[in-house]
Amino acid sequence: MANERNRVYAWEFPIRFTHWINVICIVALSVTGFYVGNPFMYAVSSKQYIMGWMRLIHFIAAYAFLMSMIIRIYWAFMGNKYACYTVWFPFSGKKLGEFFDALKFYLFLSKKPPYTVGHHALAGFTYLIVYLLFVFEIVSGFALYSVNHKGAIWQALGGWLVGIMALPIIRLYHDLVMYVLIAFTLIHVYFSWYSDSREKNGLMLSIFNGYKFITGKESDI
Ligand code: HEM
Repeated sequence: MANERNRVYAWEFPIRFTHWINVICIVALSVTGFYVGNPFMYAVSSKQYIMGWMRLIHFIAAYAFLMSMIIRIYWAFMGNKYACYTVWFPFSGKKLGEFFDALKFYLFLSKKPPYTVGHHALAGFTYLIVYLLFVFEIVSGFALYSVNHKGAIWQALGGWLVGIMALPIIRLYHDLVMYVLIAFTLIHVYFSWYSDSREKNGLMLSIFNGYKFITGKESDI
């Protein structure tokens, strides 16, 4: 058939699973975190427990987010080449060329999409930054938590940060990074859709079922 194209299993289950857990966690953490910082609803009866519920959901999502991060790091060593940690460090000469080609594409300066099965250099490096921001949110969150919860586990997960950064500064950056991640989400969804419409490789569907269609032009099949 003229239109038939091969497909490749790019995103294994742990990648898709952690991706969607991260999405749920980012939404839950942002909504509840925003409320904890700026309560926008007030209890009108002593039976209401709004702040309590918001904090509980925030902490449950924080543990889920931490587990998701641990699974993703484990899979960076155990998964296929598209999940490998090396995609986060695209610093070879060839990869730098791919990085700037992709940048031109996303800045609408070029119409040539970056054909790859896995992440192209710009995406790989962006996800390195995003994962570092995730780690910062986890560590700074547990740093704030450790102030009222004494114990070795809270100390190890974030309490140590209080020794090197003032508490109001930790809180300020914990808030600011939330806004950076919300901005990333909007840009990320828009450009995922834009890439898909240009490359016509099923990119958007691939984060649900794992498969991407290939054209034969991909550099990393
Ligand atoms: C409806 C919402 C979303 C859609 C449709 C979506 C779509 C996608 C797609 C198609 C990919 C794989 C292709 C690529 O970009 O390289 C991907 C990867 C990724 N997305 Fe999203 N995304 C969404 C929300 C989010 C959110 C909220 C975050 C975090 C703030 C996020 C973080 C990531 C990361 C870190 C990867 C790399 C996966 C890995 O290698 O571990 N996404 N997303």
